[in-house]
Amino acid sequence: MRTSMAGILAILILAPFFGCQKQRGPATGGAPIRTPPAPAPAVPAAVPAAPAAAPATTAPANAPGEEAVSSAPGTPPAKKLDVKFLPNAYQLHEKVISGGLPEGEPAFEELAKLGVKTVISVDGAKPDVTAAKKFGLRYVHLPHGYDGVPENRVQELAKAVRELPGPVYIHCHHGKHRSPAAATVACVAAGLVDPSQAVGILRVAGTSPNYEGLYDSARSARKLEAKLLDELKAEFPEAAKIPPLAEAMVGLEHTHDHLKKIEAAGWRPLAEHPDLKPSHEALLLREHFTEMARTEAVMAEPDRFRTMLTESLAAAKELEDLLGKEGFGDDPAHAQEATAILARVSANCKSCHTEYRDVPLGKKSGVAQ
Ligand code: HEC
Repeated sequence: MRTSMAGILAILILAPFFGCQKQRGPATGGAPIRTPPAPAPAVPAAVPAAPAAAPATTAPANAPGEEAVSSAPGTPPAKKLDVKFLPNAYQLHEKVISGGLPEGEPAFEELAKLGVKTVISVDGAKPDVTAAKKFGLRYVHLPHGYDGVPENRVQELAKAVRELPGPVYIHCHHGKHRSPAAATVACVAAGLVDPSQAVGILRVAGTSPNYEGLYDSARSARKLEAKLLDELKAEFPEAAKIPPLAEAMVGLEHTHDHLKKIEAAGWRPLAEHPDLKPSHEALLLREHFTEMARTEAVMAEPDRFRTMLTESLAAAKELEDLLGKEGFGDDPAHAQEATAILARVSANCKSCHTEYRDVPLGKKSGVAQ
């Protein structure tokens, strides 16, 4: 499995890339919410920096031997892994796997069995550092938004895959959008994958074309100069500081997922989660919206953004009242009504994201990339 992609020749040529080191960068991004990257303090390399590899080029015209990184014509740009606990896992290169959240110990055990040494999360959720450590894995948190991977983050990711012990598992929640984009730009920028493969990897992994910013990042990725990566000051934190809005969103998604499952079970408590009381989940949903509404980032948003939020809050309250009502479920119409309310909430998640969160970095005014 680990030798599937590039072949022995590529491994030999790329071997000198595999050293180890550290850094950090911008917070998770969303339209005007993203905070500009702060200059990162220098942290000494955990392991001696890797020797410079083949001469760096910014154009696809490669030095002799570098073409070994591209797959033979007709070969898929990423190989799906046959694994049990890692959603949507794809091997992009001998050293890099992209996939979804490793949830619970069996997932970390599976990573360890694959030989993975470093796990990089690129979403806003707090990494489960304890479970990772139990299996000898190091966590690094380098989050970015759905609007694309900002240039400084591309550099940090490239440095991470180049210098931290591999194989490296790069993940977001579902492993479909942000992690394939992050893993691809990291591999291209570190010289492990040819730029011509980049967009194909996102397609194979199932990245939605609606996330134009993620595709833009893949399309524009180029091999970075070894010198730039050597000299880059990088901190590789276990858990990055997340902007309050993104943090509220992570909690919101968690609760929303529970409610979708409760809905699928006919608005009854889940057999596998009897502790989740439907009306209490709706209450949590409402609280997440209330919490979001209080963030400074939201107060600075246009009216339309805040209207969507207010509507979501009102719908969550309706759902909470309905699910908590005496005799809920006695009439089949109750379930239909609950489904209609949840659909309104979900539609609002989607519209707000399309209009504000997913706008590609390059199309956002006043936001430095
Ligand atoms: C009124 C606008 C709005 C609504 C409604 C909204 N979101 Fe968001 N969401 C955002 C913005 C803006 C961001 C980006 C925040 C950032 O990166 O700083 C975001 C980010 C996210 C993220 C990414 C967090 C991360 O890992 O970085 C998730 C997941 C998410 N939202 C889920 C949801 C769900 C589920 C709903 C509905 C139940 C929802 N959102 C409703 C505006 C909204």
